[in-house]
Amino acid sequence: MKETCFSKKEIVKLLQIEDPKELQALFAEANKLAEELFDNKVYYRGLLEFSNYCTKDCYYCGLRKSNYTLKRYSMDLDEILGAALWAYRQGYASLTLQTGELTSSSRIRFVVDLIKKIKEKTNLGLTLSFGELPKEIYQELFNAGGHRYLLRIETSNPELYRKIHPENHSFETRLRCLMDLQEIGFQVGTGVMIGLPLQTFEDLADDLLFFKKFDVDMVGMGPYVPHSDTPLVKLPLQFTDKERLYLSLKMVAITRLFLKDVNIAAVTALQALHSRGRELALLGGANVIMPIITPKKYREHYSLYEGKPCVNETATQCQECLVHRLKWAGKDWGKGLWGDSPHYFARKRKRL
Ligand code: 5AD
Ligand code: SF4
Repeated sequence: MKETCFSKKEIVKLLQIEDPKELQALFAEANKLAEELFDNKVYYRGLLEFSNYCTKDCYYCGLRKSNYTLKRYSMDLDEILGAALWAYRQGYASLTLQTGELTSSSRIRFVVDLIKKIKEKTNLGLTLSFGELPKEIYQELFNAGGHRYLLRIETSNPELYRKIHPENHSFETRLRCLMDLQEIGFQVGTGVMIGLPLQTFEDLADDLLFFKKFDVDMVGMGPYVPHSDTPLVKLPLQFTDKERLYLSLKMVAITRLFLKDVNIAAVTALQALHSRGRELALLGGANVIMPIITPKKYREHYSLYEGKPCVNETATQCQECLVHRLKWAGKDWGKGLWGDSPHYFARKRKRL
């Protein structure tokens, strides 16, 4: 595939496009490339947020351990397996299992067992998102049957990273984890929050250069959406909701044109800012969507940010809703397909 190299200056210029015609041209070009690469298909990842406990205290996130207003929950094994089986029977070929960060050995045993059980009962592809863990644990999760891992770098600017996290959270550890995951053989996904207080266009351009340099297989990024029970809400926003939405859509489109054959998610947070936020991302280069399959009674408690959509819906309602959303965007569901990142296989071939 032909290389497209963007300089930092060029990326900043694209991020600053305001002319509607130029913007449409950018989205159309990214959409065309996604259509060619994925045959106009969108891959589903049933998103199961199986626990909202977290040992971390990120300044922007509603799940942070110091948010005592949050009702905490953990789904038990049978409940999780029930949700996984439901998704499998609907033709969702892949799941994303997500939780706040938990490092206790009993919790690790639980998730390893869970992955094995899901693999015994189904042929689901599994994306894991459990945060920063030691390399041996990542290896155990891989051996159990997880084959993709999502860990957002949140921002590739170490100084900004330090400003939006407590002192004991480390940018270097996060990088190390991403490298460990890649060395083990996972398809590795990362991403950033877009429109954070103090974040600049140059930071966002560097984020894209980071994705390229790190050779990521998957990208999941979306707008920063403030949460009133978090410290970061005290810092003024420099971009309006609309600006953060469009910045996010531009980031998706440029990522498609720059990285080409990676999987890019149309993340749910886009819908917190615009009722058609996810579809707009699908029309601008994204090729993955994550229908929430978390049981309804837990959804409102997985409140990473405020105004999270789909909290009053059941998994079936989300499924029906997505049929219409895909139709609106003129996309086809890649039913029954795992939808692995083509870049992962290209990367492996390159190393041989
Ligand atoms: N706005 C947008 N995304 C958020 N996340 C956490 N808090 C917020 C917020 N306020 C994202 C982070 C994290 C993922 C689980 O949720 O990027 O990696
Ligand atoms: Fe925990 Fe992740 Fe939220 Fe940080 S962003 S507090 S690690 S759930």
